[in-house]
Amino acid sequence: MTFASILITGASSGIGAALARHYAAPGKILNLWGRDGDRLAAVAEECRARGATVVTRAFDVTEYSKFVIALEEADAAHPLDLAIFNAGLGGSLPKDRVGQDARHAELMAGVNFTAPCIGANVVAGPMAARKKGHIVLVGSVAAAFPLPMAPLYSGSKAGLEMFAQALSLRLRRHGVAVTLVAPGFIDTPMSQSLNEPRPFLISADQAAAIIARRLAKGRRHIVLPWQFSMILGLSKLVPRAVVRAILSVF
Ligand SMILES: NC(=O)c1ccc[n+]([C@@H]2O[C@H](COP(=O)([O-])OP(=O)(O)OC[C@H]3O[C@@H](n4cnc5c(N)ncnc54)[C@H](OP(=O)(O)O)[C@@H]3O)[C@@H](O)[C@H]2O)c1
Repeated sequence: MTFASILITGASSGIGAALARHYAAPGKILNLWGRDGDRLAAVAEECRARGATVVTRAFDVTEYSKFVIALEEADAAHPLDLAIFNAGLGGSLPKDRVGQDARHAELMAGVNFTAPCIGANVVAGPMAARKKGHIVLVGSVAAAFPLPMAPLYSGSKAGLEMFAQALSLRLRRHGVAVTLVAPGFIDTPMSQSLNEPRPFLISADQAAAIIARRLAKGRRHIVLPWQFSMILGLSKLVPRAVVRAILSVF
């Protein structure tokens, strides 16, 4: 499966920027969105140098009405084959804090859950009408574990994972594919800001190559790197109480 018209949110940094570089080639139209206009422009330049046509937009995805209009305009200009909702907000809770404030909870839920759900719903309509298209939601392996150092993050990504599974079943009769990508530790500004160890770390470029290779094969659930796929599988064999006991150390 090849994609010609591609949208990537969170393309100004990390995994999104690496995916943009990966897909950049002559004949490709890339819609690259993020908040930081300067970093986005630098990624766009790299992609143009590789021969792609690039359209950038710098805005906050939690400005939902702007987000919806931008999606409608992007699809009307160049019908999307692939929409990757990758923008995300990370961060862990310091040990001396009990909870996170209301604004942080609202932002985390907005960027990691509400915005990608809105985005997927907007592009699903025209893709279903064309009986063609692929929606990608970038979650996290954190969705599978109740992380005490990041309750909002694991909760928002768990919600996104269930949404992706349900949407995939809903859209398959309309010829639209939905894939959930669940990364482990990828070396980006988001994971660099963590104080915890980052086992099995891979670069953003390695992550983009793995994601693109598996998307081309039509995979519906991509866990990377492979070590986390094994950990997820093994964790299902371990009693929940044991998983909770291990996690409560953090
Ligand atoms: N890195 C990891 O280890 C890891 C692990 C599991 C899952 N993930 C997931 O992978 C995705 C990409 O993360 P990353 O590691 O590449 O992080 P990153 O380098 O921090 O990049 C995050 C991207 O999301 C954009 N973004 C954040 N909030 C936004 C908002 N309100 N509106 C619009 N754009 C916004 C950022 O834009 P600006 O920079 O322009 O503000 C940036 O382009 C996220 O969904 C993350 O949860 C990452």
